Amino acid sequence: MTFSTQQRDALIAAAREAATRAYAPYSKFHVGAALLLADGSVVTGANVENASYGLSLCAETVAVSGILSSGTFREQNGKLEAVAVTGGAPGAAGQGDTVTPCGRCRQILNEIAQIGGSDPVVWCDGAEGVLEARLSDLLPHAFGPANLL
Ligand code: THU
Repeated sequence: MTFSTQQRDALIAAAREAATRAYAPYSKFHVGAALLLADGSVVTGANVENASYGLSLCAETVAVSGILSSGTFREQNGKLEAVAVTGGAPGAAGQGDTVTPCGRCRQILNEIAQIGGSDPVVWCDGAEGVLEARLSDLLPHAFGPANLL
């Protein structure tokens, strides 16, 4: 699937909007993620930190959790087509260094990519522009549900 610049920028805007809802009082690094499904729906997430630091949840993980717990993704054979990730100081997502998904989030994203049979494009937002990659480039030779089911 190919995308227009407008589609890309709309998904990045949704990720930036999500970043404003981050709960990140410890790192003060606000991350937003937006996931575009084949039916056109968009699901977002923001990072949620915890006083027990290691329990913090990344924005992408929160978004994937939302998709799976809503139920509709699996009921309607959903397909993950695109991901946008952004982050930065509070109120300044996308105005600093390019944010790429952390290693754990690449694996978490791979779960819904594989069950939907897609290789989503990942747009990583930052002041220098948008870094674009396929999930399979960010996580080559991935282990996933196909290895177990
Ligand atoms: N973070 C994300 O939400 N996603 C990533 O892919 C990288 C890191 C969050 C975790 C933590 O709340 C803050 O950014 C600083 O690491």
